[in-house]
Amino acid sequence: MLQEVSARLRKDLIRGLGKHSHHKAPVKMLPTFVRATPDGTEKGDFLALDLGGTNFRVLHVRLEEAQKVLKMGSQICTIPQAMMVGKGEQLKGQTLPLGFTFSFPCEQLEIDKSILIHWTKGFKCSEVEGKDVVQLLKEAIHRKRDCHIGSVAMVNDTVGTMMSCGYIDQSCEIGMIIGTGTNACYMEEMKNVKRIEGEDGRMCINTEWGGFGDDRSLADILTEIITHLSRSCDHFEKMISGMYLGEIVRLVLVKMTKDKLLFKGQISKALGTPGQFETKFISEIEDGLENAMKILTELGLVWDPVDASVVHLVCDTISSRSAHLCAAALATLVNRIRNNRKLDHLETTVGVDGTVYRKHPTSKLQKAMRLLAPQCNITFFVSEDSSGKGAAITAAVAQRLKKSCSTMCTKASE
Ligand code: BGC
Repeated sequence: MLQEVSARLRKDLIRGLGKHSHHKAPVKMLPTFVRATPDGTEKGDFLALDLGGTNFRVLHVRLEEAQKVLKMGSQICTIPQAMMVGKGEQLKGQTLPLGFTFSFPCEQLEIDKSILIHWTKGFKCSEVEGKDVVQLLKEAIHRKRDCHIGSVAMVNDTVGTMMSCGYIDQSCEIGMIIGTGTNACYMEEMKNVKRIEGEDGRMCINTEWGGFGDDRSLADILTEIITHLSRSCDHFEKMISGMYLGEIVRLVLVKMTKDKLLFKGQISKALGTPGQFETKFISEIEDGLENAMKILTELGLVWDPVDASVVHLVCDTISSRSAHLCAAALATLVNRIRNNRKLDHLETTVGVDGTVYRKHPTSKLQKAMRLLAPQCNITFFVSEDSSGKGAAITAAVAQRLKKSCSTMCTKASE
């Protein structure tokens, strides 16, 4: 079944990249205008903003070529010591390039022009959909008169994660998030990206795989609960990511209780309330029956040992489905990269971030990957808070490419 899911996604990737088919494709395959992964030589000081998960972060990132170290002040932008004691002009004239991580589906027209298609993960701010979020950010910064920024590079969090991991490990060409939402990006051959001009080199594609299944292509595996939660959008995301897993378990437990299979048919107030079964309970319960008993008591339920075992089984089933579906999707990407490059065997690194990935055992995902992509050897590079750093690194790579392009242009005109 997972092979079948992977095959369906493979078709959808091609639809999303197509010149005429991408408008209606459920998997959007958004070009990011990121044309290269880091080569490790990037350096300098950058600002980064990160919006789109549970937190908003402001970072000051310094890239140091020799040690490849990322030194960061986070939340509050720290001013480097050298600048604090240096010449005043340094401060006045300093406009740092800004990396902006915005973790929502955006139609990117340039690295600094990006239209929000629609909100996901429960965000609903008005008058942003259909607008250029970089422009909105610049206007907001402009309103704060004393604040100036240099060039902006806007990235999705998957891209930030790939770039941040790629700074350390140059074979990283995929970024994956399994957190509040889920998504992945990868380096695609430009000649396959029919929806934009150009044949040479590669470009990072933000797949927005959370929308997989929105055209009912996964109807045969959608359960009643997923259909109820999805209201026709982001089906795949709802089966995988942290914003929904707890609620799915709660709805399964409510149904089983109503069917008198659990808790002697008695639903407590907490179990009957949406959002009260937190996603973090799943990994805690998977850790052991004792945790299950503690959580059930906290939820005001009257349970017996069989109830606790059944709840454990439900949690294991929902989290396994998430891991297996994720593996099916990731396998589609690594198999595609291998085929694109006509390789018998692919060694690659996947940069990963997100609480669901970090808090759950990854053995199921890795085992499924070995079955679904047997000719690929994958290293998972887990990095916390990488998407913000990655936006800064993207700004650095954009700067490097611009410099080498202008050097080449000058040489050509000489
Ligand atoms: C968004 C993606 C994002 C993912 C992970 C999804 O809801 O549509 O753009 O990468 O969440 O944060």
